[in-house]
Amino acid sequence: MTTRAVVRGVGHYLPERVVPNSWFEERIDTSDEWIRTRSGIERRHFAAEGETTSMMAIEAAKAALDDAGMKSEDVDAVIVATSTPDLTFPSCATMVQAGLGMTGGFAFDVQAVCAGFVFALANANAMIISGQAERVLVIGAETFSRILDMEDRSTCVLFGDGAGAVLLEAAEGTGENTDRGILASDLNSDGRYREMLYVDGGVSTTGTAGKLRMQGNPLFRQAVEKLAATADAALGKAGLTHGDVDWIVPHQANIRIIAGTAKKLDMSMDNVVVTVQDHGNTSAASIPLALSVGKANGQIRENDVVVVEAIGGGLAWGAVVLRW
Ligand code: UT7
Repeated sequence: MTTRAVVRGVGHYLPERVVPNSWFEERIDTSDEWIRTRSGIERRHFAAEGETTSMMAIEAAKAALDDAGMKSEDVDAVIVATSTPDLTFPSCATMVQAGLGMTGGFAFDVQAVCAGFVFALANANAMIISGQAERVLVIGAETFSRILDMEDRSTCVLFGDGAGAVLLEAAEGTGENTDRGILASDLNSDGRYREMLYVDGGVSTTGTAGKLRMQGNPLFRQAVEKLAATADAALGKAGLTHGDVDWIVPHQANIRIIAGTAKKLDMSMDNVVVTVQDHGNTSAASIPLALSVGKANGQIRENDVVVVEAIGGGLAWGAVVLRW
């Protein structure tokens, strides 16, 4: 028998405020047409004043618990993937733990920027397989609007806020790739690329939170290459091929990256969950948001083979293959 980490529930939260591309047209030298054609983004959500990453994460976690028919006391661990925590410390995850009324278990944050949810999922899987935890809430939550330079048109139009969560539970499997649950993961990073996407502030440097800086075009070229390679590597570890995949649920940074990666993987866009038009790039929140939307609209069903893949600052990138 093999222990598998199976998704029992999924949920998300988006701030009420929707910001259309026209909002930027009124403020900076850009156009709805440029944003749509270059990125696929039509609108994004921005958190309200006083609305924090942990608040959104708590709402997403509650939705995932509801979806699973479970209560917070059933959970042993909370992992939050975020680069925009409420405070430098304590972790956002411990704030979520308290917000859910949990008095036991453990909680910590994972920081791998836009790849954070993939890294958190792989960590949660390792903890479940090793017997450290039985039920883990894995959350991606971000308030990127707070680290955007609203004068920098090459970045400020691309990002949004939100949170998504999945509840993983240990289950006995056969060890074959017909099992439900996480089947394989592939994680990578290369710190030589730090200048491509970073924030120009931090605790031990400026003492400020800083603003996001990105070399979009070179990153774009790295993204397609590395995302296809990591998805292939994870599928190979799971003993599956492209033909076995029901859904690719990619990090939602840019529709052209999503389409380019699908093409490289020889997959149709009919098998890709796309939310970038409505959410923009929500960094670590984008994949759990897309999983939640994909399940709610009937795309992702039980037993479907799902590949999640992401790349972000670091660079850090990876993929997880699971049977829903
Ligand atoms: O989440 C982590 C991963 N993130 C990513 O993977 C993002 C990767 N990069 C991208 O998505 C794309 O590179 C962008 C959407 C950021 C940019 O698209 P691009 O096709 O690479 O455009 P570009 O950077 O080559 O810029 C083309 C032109 C430039 O003008 P010139 O130099 O050709 O005259 C920019 O100044 O577009 C200009 N531009 C804009 N124009 C109108 C840049 N931003 C804007 C804007 N509105 N908002």
